[in-house]
Amino acid sequence: MSEYKNLIFENKEGVVHLSINRPDKLNALNIETIEELKLAFEEVQDNPEIKAVILMGEGEKAFVAGADIYEISELNEMNARKFSENGQEVFAIIENCQKPVIGIIHGFALGGGCELAMACHIRIITDQAKFGQPEVNLGIIPGYGGTQRLTQLVGKAKAMELCMTGDMLSALDALKLGLANYKVANKEEALAKVEELLQKILSKAPVAIGLVIDCVNAATNEQENGYQTEANGFAACTKTEDFKEGTQAFLQKRKANFKGV
Ligand code: COA
Repeated sequence: MSEYKNLIFENKEGVVHLSINRPDKLNALNIETIEELKLAFEEVQDNPEIKAVILMGEGEKAFVAGADIYEISELNEMNARKFSENGQEVFAIIENCQKPVIGIIHGFALGGGCELAMACHIRIITDQAKFGQPEVNLGIIPGYGGTQRLTQLVGKAKAMELCMTGDMLSALDALKLGLANYKVANKEEALAKVEELLQKILSKAPVAIGLVIDCVNAATNEQENGYQTEANGFAACTKTEDFKEGTQAFLQKRKANFKGV
């Protein structure tokens, strides 16, 4: 099992439980943690035994309360662009991970925490979750993709309001706005809900799941023609053994047994 300074990375029978582990700083993302997130997701991508990731924050108070304001306070025009682009790159790696990434959001998900949650494929939130992009309170704007992903998830009017006011959203409002897939009472229930979802997702053909991730992401990528990506992905599926297995299993009225090839 890998050792990280600011992350807890536990591989539990192919499902990685990945927690941001700076609870005394409400799991604020310093540059070191961003680098470790990059390494962790590279490890997830490269290890064929890993099937999925559950991303969480350690402790009871926060998923992540933002980028580290101590580091932000030292930024200038020269290094701030790099800081932003680096975070954007790492969050894009998470969003484009070929294995399902499910976020459990319990407590504060502010600034970079809201942005990290939005980079997950699916979000389960607890009643204690609080979302917001409060960067304007510090005289800055979201820099890890928040203006883009929030607009994609909740629409332009609400994204504009949330980024301009810096207001926090309750768990119920976040659910109503489409920021979350499900809202549950506590972390335990969230883990049970994730397990239920993963049981379904991981019983499907893994190549098809990876292509679903690519195609749904393509819908919000202006550099890509999503319909073309979908047609290419659809064709690519037919080259897999799992495609033959899935269709034959249906015709033979039995359950498919997918192999990931
Ligand atoms: N960066 C660095 N440190 C942070 C942090 C952040 N984004 N958010 C919280 N912390 C630290 C605090 O400095 C404090 O550290 P200390 O005990 O060494 O002083 C510790 O985490 C606990 O935070 P505290 O503010 O005392 O908790 P609280 O319950 O009173 O308030 C929040 C919680 C989330 C409302 C408050 O911490 C906050 O507003 N954080 C910043 C949110 C933000 O602006 N995020 C976007 C950053 S771009």
